[in-house]
Amino acid sequence: MRVSVAGVTVRFGAVAALSRVDIDVAAGERRAVIGPNGAGKTTLLNVIAGELRPTEGLVHLGEQDATPLPAWRRARLGLGRTFQRSTLFDQLSVAENVTLAVRARLHGGWRFWPARERAVNTEVQGRLEAGGIAHLARRRAAGLGHGERRILEIEVALAAVPSALLIDEPMAGLSGAERRLTLERLQALPEDVTVVIVEHDLDAVFALAQRISVLDHGVKIADGTPAEVRANPRVQEVYLGAI
Ligand SMILES: Nc1ncnc2c1ncn2[C@@H]1O[C@H](COP(=O)(O)OP(=O)(O)O)[C@@H](O)[C@H]1O
Ligand SMILES: [Mg+2]
Repeated sequence: MRVSVAGVTVRFGAVAALSRVDIDVAAGERRAVIGPNGAGKTTLLNVIAGELRPTEGLVHLGEQDATPLPAWRRARLGLGRTFQRSTLFDQLSVAENVTLAVRARLHGGWRFWPARERAVNTEVQGRLEAGGIAHLARRRAAGLGHGERRILEIEVALAAVPSALLIDEPMAGLSGAERRLTLERLQALPEDVTVVIVEHDLDAVFALAQRISVLDHGVKIADGTPAEVRANPRVQEVYLGAI
């Protein structure tokens, strides 16, 4: 699903968190959004997801003008997301967290239906294996390490079978080994899923993204292929040559 914002401005009082931002992500594209803290990256994801109404501008999901739609309607259109803050059910096991997400997708209801339950269990097992967390199936989410939680959050989001997925800083706070695992998982996402990822780990960004958009103080200062963005003098300035 194509994801685009056009002319989006978000003001919080005197602060413009985003100023006339245009970003157009093609169906199936891997897009990274980078920029210093406070640049407006999370605000952009909130605008796309419908958590936040822009002061000005439009949001399109596929061909549909999603600007007036609440978050749950956008989710129905196939938009998934993971949050900077965790949204797992801590008291439930890893497998139960994924099971709830699969059941929600199947409009589960509460009626027990053995054939469907078997299909759900098979799917859950497959998803846990895809995330490399099958060995943690019975563990309570509360007992997971930080990296394991992040992977589980991604699997929970994927269990909705989204057409587009917004991911906010999946690598934040992870160890080197966990970063590699998370990167591998992100690289193995289904090709037809559009991915918009906010991330500070530039190695991961350059490994993953087909295009990169750069925000600084709410303004999009660059947008292009990894090579174009790397060569952009304004981007180099913002990142003090770290790129
Ligand atoms: N709910 C809010 N109320 C007021 N200001 C906010 C709110 N959310 C974000 N901001 C401000 O908007 C700017 C962009 O924030 P954010 O999108 O979180 O940046 P990033 O994710 O790039 O670090 C910051 O100056 C931040 O303080
Ligand atoms: Mg943020």
